[in-house]
Amino acid sequence: MCGITGYIGYKEAYPIIINGLKRLEYRGYDSAGIILNENENFKLRKTKGKVSDLEDKCTDLNTKATVGMGHTRWATHGVPNDINSHPHVSNNGKIALIHNGIIENYNTLKIMLISKGYVFKSETDTEVLVNLIQYMQETQQEDFATAVRYALNEVVGAYAIAVMEIDRPQEIVVARLSSPLAIGIGENEYFIASDASPFVEFTKEVVYLEDGEMATITLEGGVDVHKIKDNAKVNLIIQELKLSLEEIEKGGYDHFMLKEIHEQPKSIMDTMRGRLLVNEGTIQMAGILDYQDKFLNAEKIIIISCGTSWHAGLVGEYLIEDLARIPVEVEYASEFRYRNPIITDKDVVIAISQSGETADTLAALKLAKEKGAFIYGICNVVDSSIARLTDAGSYTHAGPEIGVASTKAFTAQLAVLTMIAIKLAKHKGVISEEKFNTLIAELETIPNKVRDVIKNTEEQVKAIARLYAKTSNFLYLGRGYNYPIALEGALKLKEISYIHAEGYPAAEMKHGPIALIDENMPIVVIAPKTDHYDKIVSNIQEINSRKGNVIAIVTENDTQVRNMVSQAIEIPDVSECLIPILASIPLQLLAYYIAILRGANVDQPRNLAKSVTVE
Ligand code: M6R
Repeated sequence: MCGITGYIGYKEAYPIIINGLKRLEYRGYDSAGIILNENENFKLRKTKGKVSDLEDKCTDLNTKATVGMGHTRWATHGVPNDINSHPHVSNNGKIALIHNGIIENYNTLKIMLISKGYVFKSETDTEVLVNLIQYMQETQQEDFATAVRYALNEVVGAYAIAVMEIDRPQEIVVARLSSPLAIGIGENEYFIASDASPFVEFTKEVVYLEDGEMATITLEGGVDVHKIKDNAKVNLIIQELKLSLEEIEKGGYDHFMLKEIHEQPKSIMDTMRGRLLVNEGTIQMAGILDYQDKFLNAEKIIIISCGTSWHAGLVGEYLIEDLARIPVEVEYASEFRYRNPIITDKDVVIAISQSGETADTLAALKLAKEKGAFIYGICNVVDSSIARLTDAGSYTHAGPEIGVASTKAFTAQLAVLTMIAIKLAKHKGVISEEKFNTLIAELETIPNKVRDVIKNTEEQVKAIARLYAKTSNFLYLGRGYNYPIALEGALKLKEISYIHAEGYPAAEMKHGPIALIDENMPIVVIAPKTDHYDKIVSNIQEINSRKGNVIAIVTENDTQVRNMVSQAIEIPDVSECLIPILASIPLQLLAYYIAILRGANVDQPRNLAKSVTVE
């Protein structure tokens, strides 16, 4: 939620910041702003809209400033408009601030500041914080960084902030609590950003601030990190950035989402690389091996996550219960936290998160940790907050996912969960050696099968998209392992095309949703050859009797369902536990092509953000 970036060095700051904002736009894109400090003068531009709208407003900026910062916003407090956009400047015009997060006690602080004569132009919590810093500076007579620290100690909430003072053009102060912040260290230049993408081409040295830390960045002194609470000095830990420019560019595709769909054969292979060792007859996952007793003796495994990652968790439940016979519960992180859950030190809690920054998941995980559970992370973003909080974990290694709609991260999560389930099943002795070997050999073929599905279905899916692009409603049905895939297919469609879509377990249809079915209702049914095949055939018959239009995902060479439905999309014949990965692909493509035909911005759908760092 919101992207922040900044630069201090010897190069022109404007192009670096604008470029950085474009890379961070996935974090929020309803408004954008930039502030530069040139000869102790602030040059500020901000606007409702995207970074490209901000560029239009900067044509007269004419600046060579070498220090500045920028913001791309996902609105929390106050509608997206020019005034609520960041940066915000203090009443005395001397302090500028950008912020990602929420100041929960902003109203109390605002009332206090108003009583002291401060005036507010915007509805934001951020404008309160920048004025609180001014207030601290004036009342405590302290230096700039200390005033920032005093102000932060009054704040309840979450933040990653960057602050500049007009009289100190050689300095940026940054701080974080529950929202990410990375500092890039170059030769006589420093970069700050919500993630490392804005500075990937400039430096490979990065410092990730920890919760409760702040840093003063100056050209003379470099990066000086302290604790916000008591100003205790923190040693600088510089890490090597393992991200390439190529990974964060579109590479010839029209959209990141399409690129990421097409990357899946590779991303799934990357997920399994070095782990799935078929020739050696093993799955190598240190995080599981080192703590296998925790998993094998767990009273239950609780999976917590949000959105698409929650759907992966549901597939994980089927996988772990079916193969490893360990009880699993899957919870929305946001609900888990607030319902006084029963967790003990005999439980294993798995958090699944692409970004590793989702506020609800992070907070739920903290709760589980407090209650003594062993916590395990399945994250895509290396060194993200969730990855760092967990006792152990498995990265998905899907590479940067930039399209807001999650695609390759989802199938990578499924691949990790499949490996975990098969590995636990073997360690627990509940599957035979032969079944283990068959499953891992089959899993190894999945990347190529994903490639085949993309190649063989993309044109067909495009044609189907043309038939249904003007539809207002969709229903997605699946059974067993494919019920979560129905939910995921519906989520993909609604988030990028704005068509109302619902996913249901196929058998539940007759308990309500069947009332919606008529000749105008397209129904996507995931109907591969499994033990539930006959049941799903009956469900399709029920739909046909009500004249619904069925688009079915079927096993290759299926004839029975093919003859009953309007369109049949084939996927290869694989074991039931591996179908979710393959069945996801045509549903991702369907959502993508329908959204394109409707003229939607698939990479940046309205009201959404890639990384949801507010609860
Ligand atoms: O980064 P996370 O996996 O924790 O994000 C969770 C959800 O916000 C995310 O999956 C969201 O539902 C996606 N936009 C779905 O495509």
